Amino acid sequence: MDIVVLAGGLSTERDVSFATGSNVTSALRQKGHRVILLDVFMGYSDKPEDLTGIFERSWEVSASVAGISEKAPDLEAVKKSRKDQSNSFFGPNVIELCRMADMVFMALHGENGEDGRIQAAFDLYGIQYTGTGYLSSAIAMDKELSKRLFAANKIPTPAGISMEKGACEWEFEKTGLTLPCVVKPCCGGSSIGVSIVRTKEEYRHALEEAFRWEEKIIVESYIKGREFSVGVMDFKALPVIEIAPLEGFYDYKNKYAAGSAVETCPAELPLAITEKMQHYAEEVAKVLSLDTYARMDFLLDCQEKIYCLEANTLPGMTPVSLLPQEAQAVGMDFGELCEEIIRISKKKYA
Ligand SMILES: Nc1ncnc2c1ncn2[C@@H]1O[C@H](COP(=O)(O)OP(=O)(O)O)[C@@H](O)[C@H]1O
Ligand SMILES: [Mg+2]
Repeated sequence: MDIVVLAGGLSTERDVSFATGSNVTSALRQKGHRVILLDVFMGYSDKPEDLTGIFERSWEVSASVAGISEKAPDLEAVKKSRKDQSNSFFGPNVIELCRMADMVFMALHGENGEDGRIQAAFDLYGIQYTGTGYLSSAIAMDKELSKRLFAANKIPTPAGISMEKGACEWEFEKTGLTLPCVVKPCCGGSSIGVSIVRTKEEYRHALEEAFRWEEKIIVESYIKGREFSVGVMDFKALPVIEIAPLEGFYDYKNKYAAGSAVETCPAELPLAITEKMQHYAEEVAKVLSLDTYARMDFLLDCQEKIYCLEANTLPGMTPVSLLPQEAQAVGMDFGELCEEIIRISKKKYA
């Protein structure tokens, strides 16, 4: 198959996306596919190109990939470095290359990739892509909307409220919530802008931090307990994985610095709780129409109550990422998982 692996872009998870993209690219090449790794923002070359036969020389086209540093990337610097300085989000030749591919593997994370806008554009261009469609992507990206749908469908989620920058309650007493609480951007990912708040003073700082990233934020009850994630493919849950950061909570650094969290899959949990969590994960997939694959994040408190935090529609895809570890636990290696994602995504177009 001729495949474009689409990565990069202009989200705070740009670097993480390259980690996904380069791993998926190597795995699919090993499976015999002709694969181009493409930065959706930088594109290929800085001028219109004759792309005839490009998949025969797919090696030449690869985006340059850096590692993940401890902090989110400087997006202004990325914008400045694009040669054509066009105001189009799509870099030179991106749409052309994607239209030539049999499938675009979405290795994007965060805004522009997970929020459904690229999917909507691709639908109009007749480009086939992996993962869920534009509407379910957009809903899953918005934690306020998702939480409303969870609550309406008996999927437990921490109690919370959302606030816009222009109409924000800076006095914690007036929120009606209790401390500790969690403040987070409504649509972000990778824990960027997320704070755990223990005092009223911390609350104000947490608001400022979250508003650095977005106009809308969520404030929700802090759930003390263990953290888990459950992948769902084609509406069937994979084994549960537990994530235990060695220090603090599962923030950006603990997500991507090797060895900073202990991950156990299958998680050591009583069978009844495992099955309940898997059931909720499948329910989330149904309720949000996540018809290809996704990964839901959960907390479990000391009373063994389960809470769903969110659904990730384009979860991290390196061999050590959570979803691939879950697939590994049922005997599916990384390359097989990449192909399986393509297979179930193709069904949308049958
Ligand atoms: N209500 C909460 N109680 C306790 N910890 C939370 C809560 N919400 C988020 N967290 C912590 O913050 C991390 C990121 O939150 P999450 O809602 O999954 O957003 P994202 O992963 O999209 O940044 C979680 O993995 C968890 O460690
Ligand atoms: Mg999360």
